[in-house]
Amino acid sequence: MEILRTVEDMQRFADRVRQRGRTIGFVPTMGYLHEGHVSLVHIARRHADVVVVSIFVNPTQFGPGEDFESYPRDFERDRRMVAAAGADCLYCPDADEMYPPGYQTTVCVREVTRNLCGLSRPAHFEGVATVVAKLFNAVKPQYAVFGQKDFQQLVVIKRMVRDLNMDIDIIGAPIVREPDGIAMSSRNKYLGTAERQAARCLSRALDAVRSRADEGERSAQALISLARGIISAEPLGRIDYVKVCDAVTLQDVERLEREAVMAVAVFFEKARLIDNTILHVDGPQP
Ligand code: PAJ
Repeated sequence: MEILRTVEDMQRFADRVRQRGRTIGFVPTMGYLHEGHVSLVHIARRHADVVVVSIFVNPTQFGPGEDFESYPRDFERDRRMVAAAGADCLYCPDADEMYPPGYQTTVCVREVTRNLCGLSRPAHFEGVATVVAKLFNAVKPQYAVFGQKDFQQLVVIKRMVRDLNMDIDIIGAPIVREPDGIAMSSRNKYLGTAERQAARCLSRALDAVRSRADEGERSAQALISLARGIISAEPLGRIDYVKVCDAVTLQDVERLEREAVMAVAVFFEKARLIDNTILHVDGPQP
């Protein structure tokens, strides 16, 4: 596996692959990898000849007081995992390579960034869209894989790619969970034993909401109350939001009429965990 650290080396690698008529599948990450990330590598492998994984803890997507400094990092372990997952190239630029002196350009996706995590993390998605656009320009992929775990991020990236005419297929990948239901996340490392136990309420709440919606409940408020009740029963959790949104526009909905998503963000001490579930609605409802 090649390890590349500069934009120029990455672009030359990509040019060589493309000149040979081979396709590139790309998995951007911030490292401290887990099986969720590995699943994205496998999906990229199914679509493309050559798989590139990036690791870059992007400072511009962290707000003041957030966990940029303490974000978990373990390069050696990540390198082994990326190689074992079958990637061909690991791209890991440093912050000076990504944002050299004089850097001043950003990508702002205006509407789908407003709700959900945009409410409590106002600059977050501008940081994400900008870094992903820059990574795309270095890696030059035909395919890029993003997890549905970060549902809003996936919507933002799809919107950016459409709006800026980027010639890249964005592939959404299912959420990989621990055996007890907790969505895998690098930030789960922040959880102590009691919090880790308490955090199971997120997937429990989402399961309950999905069952209730499957039984025919169409009121977003009823589903939100159900989820809030389950999450609030855990004293260690502090709710940031519990929302039901249109799966395309990410606007709040009052009733389930088209495909929707229930998305939740909950603090457990210093860990802010997010999770979501898609709520399918088939045909006209009573
Ligand atoms: P990171 O949190 O490292 O996640 C990298 C990718 O892994 C994202 O597409 C994310 O949705 C996916 N992922 C994380 N946990 C997952 C899980 N349990 N199941 C499936 N996929 C999962 O997201 C970022 O990094 C950054 O914002 C990035 C896009 C790299 C830009 O800096």
